[in-house]
Amino acid sequence: MQYLSIKGKQKLSGSVSISGAKNAALPLLAATLLSKNKITIKNLPQVADVATLLKLLENLGATYERGESSVVVDATTVNSACANYDIVRKMRASILSLGPLLARFGHCEVSLPGGCAIGQRPIDLHLRALEMMGAVIDIQEGYVIAKAPNGLKGATIIFDKVTVTGSENIIMAAALAHGVTELLNVAKEPEVVQLCEILKEAGVKIDGIGTANLTIVGSYGKLIDIQDMSVIPDRIEAGTYLCAGAITNSQITITDVIPKHLEALTLKLQQMGFGIDITEKSITILPATTIKSCDIETSEYPGFPTDMQAQMMALCTQAVGTSIIDERLFENRFMHVSELLRMGAQIKLKGHSATVYGGVALKAADVMATDLRASSALILAALVADGTTRIHRIYHLDRGYENLEGKFSALGAKIERLEE
Ligand code: EPZ
Repeated sequence: MQYLSIKGKQKLSGSVSISGAKNAALPLLAATLLSKNKITIKNLPQVADVATLLKLLENLGATYERGESSVVVDATTVNSACANYDIVRKMRASILSLGPLLARFGHCEVSLPGGCAIGQRPIDLHLRALEMMGAVIDIQEGYVIAKAPNGLKGATIIFDKVTVTGSENIIMAAALAHGVTELLNVAKEPEVVQLCEILKEAGVKIDGIGTANLTIVGSYGKLIDIQDMSVIPDRIEAGTYLCAGAITNSQITITDVIPKHLEALTLKLQQMGFGIDITEKSITILPATTIKSCDIETSEYPGFPTDMQAQMMALCTQAVGTSIIDERLFENRFMHVSELLRMGAQIKLKGHSATVYGGVALKAADVMATDLRASSALILAALVADGTTRIHRIYHLDRGYENLEGKFSALGAKIERLEE
């Protein structure tokens, strides 16, 4: 097992290029199951979750060739509709194969995603929507057994809750459905928007892209002509590096980003007293004279992203005053709190709300990563802690951050990956 060793109290400087978004790459890879041709996907991040999904596609019978930051996927050779437990348990987002496999083959077996540190994360909304499209769904021995022998039918579906991968699954299913599907209360995350744009470029008629209401005209089961594409930048990786600049009160620039995708965060950082300079593809954060506390409530895009909640909590420990952080999307997304407390942070939890008492000098400690974004919060805390922090179980980080030590070292952080 590996761990990260980080020497605190180092100022950062310079710039860092942001990679392609993990949460955009995953649905785009799943969408290759709908395609009648080979596809090149550029700006593909080298992260564990992408490797896992490529392995799933290969297990289904697809082939792929990886380049430096791209992949050529040929899913025309797919000959199985069974996504087995071994792969799905490694990554919940494998559930994104459900919609495309069912739409393409009229049947599929996809293992139920296992539990997850941040919450129960059910897929009832995915399944209910597919039933509305005519699928018969059974759960047997931990697998979703879905059947739609005459193909999925267009339907009018309202999501009781906004669900990102639920929206993506049903959008992909609707692309091959027989007839028109109206989707209401759809997620508007940039990753969902890119999926819709790719399907539109493949000839699928989709109206309402970027809004909560989509109208999708299905292809009556015919595979579609998906064009080559480039994955949008990772707004959460970008936000994590902005918070690294903020917590060390340094000036750094993040490049190859879409600033609009980070608006909720940059506005919050400005409220906290940081300067933010924005160009078409970059954001520079400038030190604050005083880091002010702030209140955060996570919500669906374009609201404040839950995937930045842990990182902002680490930052709030350095603000003057008390910050209140309300986690509204997941029921257990405070796993980072106990680790931050070990570093001397003063945080009180009450239900889905955390009160962060600022102005605390953090101390280095041995801490444990528990989930992808919680682990990145521990890196931020370690950057300002007095001493050298060791972060264990960093396989969580490798799921979603490409070349993490390389990028942080280039900014001046004293960070090393060592063997336990
Ligand atoms: C996506 O997860 C992201 N993952 C998550 O990022 C992100 O935190 C989340 O959206 C919210 O933005 C990917 O895109 C691969 P949801 P997803 O379905 O789709 C409830 C990361 O760190 N719900 O939008 O699984 C659910 O319990 C990861 O990169 C149901 O009740 O999240 C949650 O409370 C972590 N029934 C809420 O909806 C369902 O059928 C939002 O979940 C589906 C969801």
